[in-house]
Amino acid sequence: MKEIEEYPELSYVFNRRSIRKFKQQPVPNNMIEVLLKAAMAAPSAMNNQPWEFVVIDDPKILGKVRQQMIFGRQETPLAIAVCGNKRKARNKFSATDFWIQDCSAATQNILLCASSLGLGSVWLGVHPVKIFSAGISRILKLPRHIKPLCIIYLGYPDQEKAAHTKYTEKNVHWQSFGNQGSEEVTS
Ligand SMILES: Cc1cc2nc3c(=O)[nH]c(=O)nc-3n(C[C@H](O)[C@H](O)[C@H](O)COP(=O)(O)O)c2cc1C
Repeated sequence: MKEIEEYPELSYVFNRRSIRKFKQQPVPNNMIEVLLKAAMAAPSAMNNQPWEFVVIDDPKILGKVRQQMIFGRQETPLAIAVCGNKRKARNKFSATDFWIQDCSAATQNILLCASSLGLGSVWLGVHPVKIFSAGISRILKLPRHIKPLCIIYLGYPDQEKAAHTKYTEKNVHWQSFGNQGSEEVTS
């Protein structure tokens, strides 16, 4: 396994860390637009694109979000709430819960795009914690069919974190669960 420094073209992936200290410098609108374009470049089940994004840069609303998110109390100049639209999530298998995977893919695209733009970010889980979902829905005035998946805090980082991967061979199985070697399995 090569070291991560040997993949400079992937530095934005390995440099992405959860940043929990931000400068108050605002994130320019053109950057916000790129982040949203990256979000909406994500794959989605049956190409339903069941996502909605609430961009929050009003300090009053950011303050309310901070109050609600007990694991996200840090000051941030910008937050994006990634939400699933249950009306767009309908499909022939009645598998409406795909919105969770679709919105997670969009979220990760935002985090990676932020990393490549030199912005810091942190993913704050909302769904499926009922008290967080109810609070965020109230603050952002979400209609009943719009479900908040997470809040992303974004901004210029005011802390440094080393690039990393949590790669461990133990988590990798070849052909079937429990096979740790990559050699061909004959039976
Ligand atoms: C679904 C999800 C929910 C998370 N919720 C929170 C949260 O509420 N507060 C927080 O500070 N970090 C949260 N995180 C960030 C994780 O704590 C972080 O990714 C993990 O500690 C690994 O660190 P890294 O992102 O720097 O690799 C969440 C991440 C995910 C994927």
